[in-house]
Amino acid sequence: MSYVQIDNLTKTYKDTIALNHLSLTFDKGEFVTLLGPSGCGKSTLLRSIAGLAPTEEGSIHVDGVDITHLKPKDREIGMVFQSYGLFPNMTVLENIGFGLRMKGMKKSEYEGKVKRMIELVDLVGKEQSYPHQLSGGQQQRVALARSLVMEPKILLLDEPLSALDAKIRKNLQVELRRIQRELSITTVFVTHDQEEALTISDRIFVMDLGNIVQSGNPEEIYTHPANEFVARFIGNYNVLRAEQLRQLTGGGSFAAVSYAIRPEVIQLFPEHAGPEPSGNGWLAAGKVKDITVTGNVLRYLVESQDQRLQVDHLNTAKELWIQRDMNVNVWIPAEECVPLG
Ligand SMILES: Nc1ncnc2c1ncn2[C@@H]1O[C@H](COP(=O)(O)OP(=O)(O)O)[C@@H](O)[C@H]1O
Ligand SMILES: [Mg+2]
Repeated sequence: MSYVQIDNLTKTYKDTIALNHLSLTFDKGEFVTLLGPSGCGKSTLLRSIAGLAPTEEGSIHVDGVDITHLKPKDREIGMVFQSYGLFPNMTVLENIGFGLRMKGMKKSEYEGKVKRMIELVDLVGKEQSYPHQLSGGQQQRVALARSLVMEPKILLLDEPLSALDAKIRKNLQVELRRIQRELSITTVFVTHDQEEALTISDRIFVMDLGNIVQSGNPEEIYTHPANEFVARFIGNYNVLRAEQLRQLTGGGSFAAVSYAIRPEVIQLFPEHAGPEPSGNGWLAAGKVKDITVTGNVLRYLVESQDQRLQVDHLNTAKELWIQRDMNVNVWIPAEECVPLG
């Protein structure tokens, strides 16, 4: 049996099915991510694991124990939210020690544990600070330490980095993963940001409308999206119906209903110029309709045979000779056309 086993979990709010007979399992020490657009049921699933959202059907087992009907406090599960929820009138030390004090531990007993947590989340020197004296990132570190000091069986993180600005967020992603590995703590992380999910996870569960539509490691999810929803959500894929692809390639046999092609696998060559593409694939004439510079990536919008394709190239100097309104040859590698279910 897996460490966490969720079977047939169902939760409705009036007309909304927040969790639709949902089943998933994961292992001890795994860092799993629930990824999906707003409203797909991520928070509801986390809250039901924590015991904060009673479900109508299904069961949750942790380490072989049925926790479906246990009170939240008896589940030994820690949860961290986007809003840090620290006690404003308590210092960092007091915030982190609060849970253990509530359990009846004396200061002399819990001080060592709290100190270790402060070291783990890299807040040494901030012990006597109050939340308002800390940055957002530091406050989230306190919230994390406050959960971890209780030694929960599972750590649940509901969009914990969403309120932080990009640079601090990237930094905390790395830190979070380091801390998780050091403690080997089973973690369920929630995000609507596909890049964050791909960066941080051992395994991703992609959710849509209360269902899990695909699960796999980041590499699998990114390179082999199971359906159009995942393809569009995860990687800005070009999604083409078989007949569109047939038209674009001037033949070729395509058995699936539709195909996904990643923007970065399509190559562009100026008409009458450039190296000959090699390998299995198709060359089609096209025209560059637009170019966007996103920093390290040049994003082209190319029209070919009445189809619009997004093409991403690394922003190196040699790419600059492809301009807007230029006629180009578009190379589509055959093995990169992923059939969708
Ligand atoms: N307390 C509630 N009352 C009514 N509907 C809710 C409540 N909580 C969530 N929902 C609905 O359930 C669905 C899933 O919500 P949620 O789990 O919060 O999604 P996510 O976290 O993925 O954004 C949404 O349609 C949402 O509107
Ligand atoms: Mg949510």
